[in-house]
Amino acid sequence: MKDVLVVKKSKAFQGEIDVPGDKSISHRAFILASIAKGTSVIRGAQKGKDCLSTLGCMRKLGVEIEEEDESFVVKGAGFGGLREPSDVLDCQNSGTTMRIISGVLAAQNFYSVLTGDSSLRRRPMQRIIEPLSQMGAKIWSRKGGYPPLSIKGGSLRGIRYILPVASAQVKSSILLASLHAEGETELEEPHLSRNHTEIMLKYMGAKIRIKGKKIQISGPQELEAREFKIPGDISSAAFFIGGASILEGSCVMVNNVGVNPTRAAFLKILQKMGAQIEVKNERIECGEKVADVQVRGTGHLKGVKISGDVIPQVIDEVPILAVVACFAEGETIIEGARELRVKETDRIKALVTELSKMGACIKEMEDGMIIKGGGKLKGAEVESWEDHRIAMALAIGGACAKGETKIKNASCINISFPGFQDTLEKVAIY
Ligand code: S3P
Repeated sequence: MKDVLVVKKSKAFQGEIDVPGDKSISHRAFILASIAKGTSVIRGAQKGKDCLSTLGCMRKLGVEIEEEDESFVVKGAGFGGLREPSDVLDCQNSGTTMRIISGVLAAQNFYSVLTGDSSLRRRPMQRIIEPLSQMGAKIWSRKGGYPPLSIKGGSLRGIRYILPVASAQVKSSILLASLHAEGETELEEPHLSRNHTEIMLKYMGAKIRIKGKKIQISGPQELEAREFKIPGDISSAAFFIGGASILEGSCVMVNNVGVNPTRAAFLKILQKMGAQIEVKNERIECGEKVADVQVRGTGHLKGVKISGDVIPQVIDEVPILAVVACFAEGETIIEGARELRVKETDRIKALVTELSKMGACIKEMEDGMIIKGGGKLKGAEVESWEDHRIAMALAIGGACAKGETKIKNASCINISFPGFQDTLEKVAIY
């Protein structure tokens, strides 16, 4: 994909699309299959750069992973079968890779070093260093808890831990460490974050008790290899669902997409804003809820307030929600979303800066933003801030705006959605 993406105004979005496999589930499938006993087959995994970072790290830890046709065959090393990497593990742009793999490394009786690109090296890791150290791992970082991280793992013990922020990455990191810790680990989150790890652990035979925002798990436990079928990523589908909601006369069907309730709040928010969305053929695959999602653009949307418990469940959809809000009547308030400041970039600042260039009436708040919608956006030259979700949100904003929009540094879209541009060309009607 070219580094400058040029997007013209679309009249509507129409057609049937598939989106790449769910990024969160793909990372977890690669990692959990690697530490399981036996051979797992993973179908539908995402092949964006982030998931390939995870794959590369697991291979460097000695796991044999082959790509065959449209699937990955992972020969699980068993938790104790990983080997000390002879080089630094490069997580590139992927916070999920670094944080979740750290949980596995915390339990390994060897030395490893994890690093990433300049964006990842600015992201907070104290949130995993703290609980994993309490469990008994030795972890070094740069001042303030920034990567590179070095980990010398070993005999861990279970802990009771209340997460200061709702984070599925932190929760998953502790859960994977707890598999090899002596005794019980009990976790509690302030708000429920995505629960793919919990679902996958159960699917792989682990004993884990979940009561609302509390989880109990006892170690040591070994996972069993499985076949995985990974659904499409709702966070990728969100860009086209959002765009179709804005453009009157649109009708888009997204096939085979994950609608796990901890991920699908975006659909409910859009419905509240006035979008016509139907979730069809709901089914359960490998413990995950999957469906086909149809959206029709009415052209009549209204602003909403997005705050509280729902925030962790739409955290990756805020960029496209901000774009949708620009086209909705009235005010949209997004609050309690300070976490956006420590994503691949400061997403609050990025959205406010770039959408303002397109004529949006958007105000920065410490923990969110206020958008006065109704005014249409106009094409402009904008910057991705090297953040895949900012780039795609701006591209959809551009497709709904008057004139032409140029998104600079857009190749970061390949982090999570290779084929985004082709999908946009497929659905856009001019
Ligand atoms: C993810 C969790 C979220 C999300 C990220 C993927 C995961 O991050 O923003 O894109 O796969 O666990 P946090 O855990 O930091 O909230």
